[in-house]
This record gives sequence, structure tokens and C-alpha cells, in this order.
Amino acid sequence: MAEHLEISSGEKEEVYATLLKQVVALVGDETDQTANLANVSAALQQTFNHLWVGFYMVKDGELVLGPFQGPIACTRIQKGRGVCGKSWEDKRTFVVDDVDAFPGHIACSSASKSEIVVPLVKEGSVIGVLDVDSSELATFDNADSKYLNLLCEWLVTVI
Ligand code: SME
Repeated sequence: MAEHLEISSGEKEEVYATLLKQVVALVGDETDQTANLANVSAALQQTFNHLWVGFYMVKDGELVLGPFQGPIACTRIQKGRGVCGKSWEDKRTFVVDDVDAFPGHIACSSASKSEIVVPLVKEGSVIGVLDVDSSELATFDNADSKYLNLLCEWLVTVI
């Protein structure tokens, strides 16, 4: 397992490309879900230094807090509630420039200003979501959506 994470100093797309290559190596042949989600959230946090990076996983009809990096967060989210619950319900990515303008946004931290949520879709079903929060407005764009979707598409094959 690689112990050092190389962080590219180039454009965001290049940073993601470097990161994705490394997380594939970091996970290697590990199949434990908690271990892999934990290292992926840590690698994202180390690379981008966002406010909060983590996973909520579908368990018994709710999203339940999984491995994350950042301040303490709410533990359970119902389907259709908040950005995470909407991503689960609609099975799509949400890029939110201003969380205060998102109807039903769940404020786990008042420091969160913008957010991206990407569903983890395995065999057609949402098994969880990746949630990334920023302390700045409008942090996330099409590049984040593209690469975080690629990351999640790969991730569901190793958890
Ligand atoms: N803001 C999210 C809740 C999770 S926290 O941001 C970690 C939402 O509205 O679903």
C-alpha cells in the first residue's frame, strides 16, 4: 500500500486525475468497505482540504453516516431529505452553489456554504452517497462532478 499521497499542483482536472490513479493503488486488492471508504475520504480531504468529505450508506431504508473526514455530522438522513437524501431519491449528482438556497438542506455545520453529493450506484441501486462540503460558496463545478462520478463508479466495484 502506498503511504505517500502525491498532490498535483496543476489544474483541478489534473489534480483529480493524479488522485484517482493513486486511490486505485491505495485500495489495491482490499475489499473491506469501511477500510476503503475511510481511505478514499482521507485521500480526498488531504488533496483538497475541504470542510467535510464522507459517505452516508443506505441501511434499513435510511442513509447512515459512514467513514468521513471533518467535523461531527448528523448520523441518519431519510430518503428525499437534504441534498444527500435527494441524491439518493433521484439517483443523481447535486452540485449546490449555496446550501442556504437549497430547499430542505440539512445543516450539519453552519460553516458549510456549498456542497456536492454523488450517489454510489451498484447494480442499478443507490447503496450510499459521497458528500463533500466546502466553507466557500460555489466551490464545485463540472470537473468535480465528472471526477467524483468516475471515483464513485469505480468505488462501487471495490466495496
Ligand atoms: N448537508 C447534507 C447533510 C450532511 S452534512 O453536510 C455532512 C444534506 O443536506 O444532505
